[in-house]
This record gives sequence, C-alpha cells and structure tokens, in this order.
Amino acid sequence: MLKKGELYYPDKDFQKKAWINNKKIYQQAEKDPVKFWEKLAGELFWFKKWQKGFLHNPPYFQWFVGGKINITENIFRHLSDKPALIWEPEPVNEEPKILTYQELFKSVNQLANALKILGVKKGDGVGIYLPMIPEAVISMLACCRIGAVHTVVFSAFSPSALRVRLQDTKAKVLITADGYFRRGQVINLKQNADEGIKETNIEKVIVVKRTGNEITWDNQKDLWWEELLQKQSQECQAEQMDSEDAMFILYTSGSTGQPKGIVHACGGYAVQAYWTGKWIFDFHQDDIFWCTSDQGWITGHTYTIYSPLLNGITTLMFEGAPDFPTPDRWAQIIEKRKVSIFYTAPTAIRMFEKYGAHHIEKYKFESLRLLGSVGEPIDTAAWLWYSKNIGKEKCPIVDTWWQTETGAILLSSLPGIGPFKPAFTGLPFPGIKVDILDKQGKAVSEGEEGRLVILPPFCPSLLRGVYKNPEKYLKTYWSQYGNKVYFTSDSALKDKNGLIRIVGRLDDVIKIAGHRVTTGEMEAAVNLHPEITECAVIGIPDEIKGEVPVIFIVTWSKKPLDKIKEEVVGWIKKEIGPIALPKEIYSVNDLPKTRSGKIMRRILRKLVTQAAAKGEKEDLSSLPSGEDLGDLSTLANPQSVDDIKNMINQ
Ligand code: WTA
Repeated sequence: MLKKGELYYPDKDFQKKAWINNKKIYQQAEKDPVKFWEKLAGELFWFKKWQKGFLHNPPYFQWFVGGKINITENIFRHLSDKPALIWEPEPVNEEPKILTYQELFKSVNQLANALKILGVKKGDGVGIYLPMIPEAVISMLACCRIGAVHTVVFSAFSPSALRVRLQDTKAKVLITADGYFRRGQVINLKQNADEGIKETNIEKVIVVKRTGNEITWDNQKDLWWEELLQKQSQECQAEQMDSEDAMFILYTSGSTGQPKGIVHACGGYAVQAYWTGKWIFDFHQDDIFWCTSDQGWITGHTYTIYSPLLNGITTLMFEGAPDFPTPDRWAQIIEKRKVSIFYTAPTAIRMFEKYGAHHIEKYKFESLRLLGSVGEPIDTAAWLWYSKNIGKEKCPIVDTWWQTETGAILLSSLPGIGPFKPAFTGLPFPGIKVDILDKQGKAVSEGEEGRLVILPPFCPSLLRGVYKNPEKYLKTYWSQYGNKVYFTSDSALKDKNGLIRIVGRLDDVIKIAGHRVTTGEMEAAVNLHPEITECAVIGIPDEIKGEVPVIFIVTWSKKPLDKIKEEVVGWIKKEIGPIALPKEIYSVNDLPKTRSGKIMRRILRKLVTQAAAKGEKEDLSSLPSGEDLGDLSTLANPQSVDDIKNMINQ
C-alpha cells in the first residue's frame, strides 16, 4: 500500500488489476442510481426481465419489479470442477472436504427434492440449525432452489431462541445435526433442537450426522440426512421467483425479548450480494475467499456463502474457533489453503494482536492480497496491526459497514481506488446515497457527529419488512425523519474527503465480539429469574470483544450471591446462548431512576467505565457524587448512585 499522510492507497499493481480503479464510477452512478443498478442487475440471469427498476410506496419500495429470478440458477450458471467450497473441520486430524460446483449442485438438488417430498412448497419456512459444515450451505441453497424461505438460527443459540424463531415463521421442517465441536468438546445439538421444537409446527427434523454422539430419536419425526438424500434425484428445476418474493428471514435482536424477523427479497439481494463482492472484495476467478463469519449471522449469509458463490469463486468455511487448538490455527489455514482475501471482525484481529506478533512470525501470508473488516468499529491500533502483521503492508484493507437489515455492504472504500483511512469505513458504494443528520434533520458539518441515514432509492438489498410486524418496521426504520428516510440507528461523522467514520449505535444494541445483542433482550431473560425484581444491562468497552455486557440486579433472595449470579448466567444461557454471557454481575439495592421510573443506564455505564478506566479503585470512591455523571437532579433516588459506586469499588 502507498501511504500519503493518514491515507493509504492500493499500489499500482493492485490498482491495475482491480475491477474498479477509476473514481468516475461514483459520478456515473450518482447521475441516475436506479439506472445504474438496473445495468448491474442485467448481468445476472433472469427468467424474465423486470418492467420497472424501482417503485417507491413509502415506507415500502420494490426493485426490479416483475422480474423472475432464482439465486441458485445464478450460482450454478457455470457448472465446473472448480471447488465451490473448501471446508476445514475443527479437529486437526480430520479430513477437510472440498465440494466442486458440480458436486454442490447435485447435493442441493437432492435436498431440494427431499424437501418437496416432505411437503415443503414455495413460500414455506424452513428452519436451519446447523454448525459450520457444508450441509449448512447445501440446506440454504436447496431452500432457494424451491423457493422455500430459510431461517438460519446460530447453532450456539439456546433452544428458547430457536423456538421463538420457529414459532414466528411456522416452519414445518428443521434441519439440524447430532452435534458439533466446540474447542474439542462435543455439544449435543440434537438435544437443543428437540427442546427448541416443542410448541412449534415442526413435523420433520432432518439430522446430519456430524459428531456421532448419542441422541434421542423420534421415528415419527426424525430423518437422517444421508438416508434421505440417497434416494433423491440429482436434478431439480429451479423455482421461478418473483424479484420481490421473500428469499430468507433472518432474526436479529429486538429491544424487547422478541427478535425481529428481517425479510430479504430474491432479486435485490442477489444483485447486491453479487456486485458488492465483485467490487469490494475484487473477486477474481482464482481467489480463495475466507469470511470467518458463521452462517447464522448476516455476514455469513452474504459473504461466506451467497456473494462468493454468485461470483464463481472458492469460499472457505472453517468449523472451529480461530485460536483452537493453537493460537495460530487461523494463520495455518491461510497458508495451507492459500487464502487470497481474508474478511473478519475487529474482535478477532484484537485477539490475534493480544497473542503477540511472535505467534505468527513464521507466516509470510504471501497468498493474501486483500483484507476486510466488519461488524464493529475497528480502532486505529487494530487497523495498523492488521495491516502490518497480516497484510504485510501490501494488502488494502476494506472496512465494510452494513447491517442485517441492509443485506449487503453499503459503505466501504473500493480496493482499487482507496483511500483507506484507519477507523473510517470510507465512501458509500456507487449508487448509494447516505447522509448524516442532526436531531432536527439538518445535515451536520464536517467532523461533526450525527445520525447516519440512507436516502432514496436506498439499495436493492435493503430489508422489505419485519416479518408479521409492520408497526415495528415503520417505527424502527422509517419514523425518525419521515417515511422516506431510512434510519440506521448508527451515529457517524464525515471527514473532509467525505470518508465516513461509524461511531456506534444510538439504540440499545451492543456488539459482543461483533455479535448483535440488545440489552433489552438480556434484561428480559434476567427478569425471568423468580427472585429478581429488577435489572439493568449495559454494554461497556472491552479491549478484545469491543463491548461486553454488565448486569445489575435487584433481588430479595437470601441465597449466597455466587449462587444468584450462577442462576443469572443460567437464564442468559437458556434464553439467548453463551454469546451474551456477562463480564460482571452486581447485586444492588436500588437502580438509579428518573422520577417517572426510567432506569438511567447511562449513569450505570459511566460508573463502570470510569472505574475501569481509572484502574485504581480509590479514584472512583473519591469522586464526589455527580461529578462527571451528567445531570443527576432528575433522579428519584440519587443515593443509589453512591451505593453502586461503593459496590463497584469493593
Ligand atoms: C455495526 C453486521 C463500524 C453497526 C454486518 C451496525 C459496524 C451494526 C461496521 C449491524 C463497521 C457493522 N464499522 N460498525 N465496519 N459494520 N457495524 O446487523 O453498528 O450484526 O449498525 O450486521 O454493526 O450489525 P449486524
């Protein structure tokens, strides 16, 4: 990379070979974004061309109206013996699996036929609760092949989290596995699935044999994947989907206990997944792309699976944790597989950094030519470490901003143009209009923080609704600045070059190791404890994970504190899963509240972060009540602040 001041640029060679290396693309797109996207859409295969590019009926909109498409027909346009998928298992001694486009196509068709026999029709929901194994990819594509709407549930989510998703979508079929590996342990996934399908419409459960652990079997319901697929034909016609038909529903945290079902449409999603991969990751035919995200998250949907496969390149899927069994496992995989593009979250980068540069000293990473970051703001130190120790100062870094709701990337520098600036994501993708507004809706000036919004015509892959909840759709995304402006819930600022920096969320979403959880859903889980009268959850900064939750509880229980804490952890695990485990739990007499009864989480956050920042607890106790804590005059119970301060101080 070339460095000019605080900005970095791709070197000449990278620039020359990149798909996009001329800034003119931005002006071309800006002239008429709809026409621009239509031109891009035209490069995909459509059974029938659309009649209208963009139709706006606020707060709803449509793209490529009247077009007929199937994403799998696009993925399998070029059937070849090239690897579509390289799968690295967690156990070091187990054989990896490589599936060519041909082989993947056959398995997808077999499962698609099996699903049809089980009664799954176009528009029906199918639940997928699988670890990171090739069958997850096959399952998602098989649903698309027949027009079934998949809902993937992260395998580390709890049975309750699975249940609410299955209840909402009314899925009749669930695809799961006997178990999976996590850091050398076998987790009995089937047991969680059995628990999670209670009180749902699930009639059939397709079970992949992964770990061979003992499971309970219900002859009426359960079917082995292998036996089911064997009997099926390797051919299956793709369903012709309307551009606006739902392709999948992926749930993301809501502020109450209830997650939101984010609905994505067939046409727009395929178009944007394809082009953002091609231009932002600069996919070329011999690239080996490793996106480390699990398919249970949107990043896994779009960039572990759909985007690389639409582009006909090889995607790498790794079952395990990047630092297991040794801290350099991920580095070994990059070297062994000659990964050319590596896309991960800042949490992983900070974890590698913490292990120390010496643990990867021997790796040259010669195959790498481009790096990416996603999911949370990447701080300058982590960015520079990534660039130096992994990118060896030759790889551009694309910091990509997007959301479950946007389906694909919206903000990022283009790697053949740049500039790349640590802690800044870059410019909007060509054809996308964003703005940063103050509370009143006025654009903020350069360097000033405001709210990031997306302006019409938005983007083809933006969500089409919150499943069965139009009020939530309107209220969450289309009511802050009227129903023609999409509100992202992120705060951001722009520098003099127009590069955008994402500062953080404005709502109660916290990003734990890049995973999206709301404090509201955690509070709902903790409040299920019968002896807890009240609780508050806050997110505090963490050196590795970006943010971690801290829980405050008010309890009347006489049990020892450790016991109560253990139970709180139990409720979190039961309702959400291990990703949301708290860093600390404080039992307090009272929570700071306004006179109208609103819990002041802002104060709690300040108390904890001040304590952590000072490192020396005496400093905190010497703070007079109210100092640095903002206005406490509206509190109904200011004494609670001193009590909590002492408690944190103990
Ligand atoms: C945050 C993940 C800073 C942001 C794809 C957004 C980021 C939320 C970045 C969506 C980035 C995502 N820099 N922050 N490059 N990418 N975010 O739905 O707050 O899990 O609103 O989608 O992650 O999280 P989600």
